[in-house]
This record gives sequence, C-alpha cells and structure tokens, in this order.
Amino acid sequence: MERPYVIIVSEVTVDGKLTLYRGASSKELMSLMDEEAYRYLHEIRAKVDAIMVGCETVRTDNPSLTVRYVKGKNPVRVIPCSTANIPLDANVLNTKEAPTIVATTERAPRERLEKIKEKGAEVLVAGDELVDFDALLPALYERGIKTLMVEGGASINWELVRRRFVDEIRLIHLPVVVGGENVPTLVGGEGFKKLKDLLRLRLRSHFTRGSQLITEWEVINRR
Ligand SMILES: NC(=O)c1ccc[n+]([C@@H]2O[C@H](COP(=O)([O-])OP(=O)(O)OC[C@H]3O[C@@H](n4cnc5c(N)ncnc54)[C@H](OP(=O)(O)O)[C@@H]3O)[C@@H](O)[C@H]2O)c1
Repeated sequence: MERPYVIIVSEVTVDGKLTLYRGASSKELMSLMDEEAYRYLHEIRAKVDAIMVGCETVRTDNPSLTVRYVKGKNPVRVIPCSTANIPLDANVLNTKEAPTIVATTERAPRERLEKIKEKGAEVLVAGDELVDFDALLPALYERGIKTLMVEGGASINWELVRRRFVDEIRLIHLPVVVGGENVPTLVGGEGFKKLKDLLRLRLRSHFTRGSQLITEWEVINRR
C-alpha cells in the first residue's frame, strides 16, 4: 500500500497524559510549554505536507493547525470525522488560512457535507461506520500528501498505531504529572494486551527545547 510517512507528534506529561481531564482542551496544559518547544512543533508543521487531528480534538480544542511560531507554509489539514460533526465556525474550516480535507463516511448527512464544502473544504468519503484508514491513507498519498503529521488525540493515535501505519513518534515532554485513571494518554483504544503485538520503538534522538525534553522515536515494526 502506498501511504504517507506518518509522524505522531504530541505534548505529553511525565505520566503520559494529553490533557487535564477527559473532555478538557489540551490548550490549558500546552500553556505550560516554552516558546522554544512551540517553535519545534511548528518547524515540523512547516515541513510536512499535511497535519491530522481527530474531530473530538477539533470539537474540544478548536485548533487552527497553522504555522505561526516559525516562517513556513501551512500544511493541508485532514480531519477524520465519521458524521462530519464539525462546528461550521471551527478554525480548521477557515480555508482562507490553509486547505482542509474532512475525511468522513457514508453516515454523514448530505446537508452537512454541502455546508462544509461551502466553507471551501474538500470532503473525502472513506468508510461506512468509522473513517477507514486503510482507504484514507492511500487516498491522501494520491493527492500528493507524502508526509503526514498526526497531532492526536488518543483515539486517532490508536487507530494508526494498531494498523502499524506510524513511522515515527516525537514527544514534547511537559515536566508535570496530572494523574487520573480516565485522563486520555498518548494512545487510547483497546491496547495491544500481548507482548508480541506491541509497537516497538528505537530512540533516535533526545534533546531539550527550553525546559522541555524532546524525544524522537522510530517505529521498528511498521507496515
Ligand atoms: N496533548 C496533545 O498533544 C493533544 C493533541 C490532540 C488532542 N489532545 C486532547 O485529546 C483529547 C481528544 O482525544 P480523543 O481521543 O477523545 O479524540 P480524537 O482522537 O481527537 O478524535 C476521535 C474522534 O474521531 C472520530 N473518528 C473518525 N473515524 C475514526 C476512527 N476510525 N477511529 C477513531 N475515531 C474516529 C470520532 O468522532 P466521530 O464519532 O464524530 O466521528 C472519534 O470520537 C482532547 O482532550 C484533546 O485536548 C491532546
């Protein structure tokens, strides 16, 4: 299968959390991040062809997913969303800033898709129930997207990890502990449960940006 090179990039606390509590915007936690770490994040955004976040992240964080801390072009934004339930005033639908692809399924109501198209976004139907990444990734590759950065959340990360569609993981470690059993961590979903199934990584590099440790991991058993 021809697919984009996939890099998961995430801010995580020392205990692996993505946010303060389930349903909370990660923007609050990210306010702890130094400007140097923001620049690291935006340097990656400026280098990739596209950036993906799940539509729960769009609904809770309302990110713009643009390049602001460094100079560079904005990547194409890709939002997997099975019923296209994205607020029409969401920042990712401001297509004057950057192009947006809403990846959806046969379940999405036609009227909603029309409204999204009127905002200037492309609609790509891939799947019946949930967005089917086996269909979505080759479709993105065909559109010229050769490198894809994934900025979460936990559910989308799991979908890609369980299919071994991840080539790299880059983490910005926030020097805090949040705690809480139900707080989303880097990867959600069912989990692998068996040692033989785990995603295996090799540490490629580690360095600091401001007071944040950055670690960059290569996936050994990718597809
Ligand atoms: N620290 C960080 O770097 C960071 C980054 C991003 C997000 N976050 C945080 O993570 C949390 C959101 O994470 P999340 O795991 O709840 O949501 P998510 O991964 O952002 O989005 C999941 C949603 O995507 C849609 N979807 C479409 N196809 C799917 C598929 N095949 N598999 C799974 N989902 C599919 C579903 O919504 P529909 O049913 O509507 O289709 C699903 O609920 C927020 O609190 C956010 O602040 C943190």
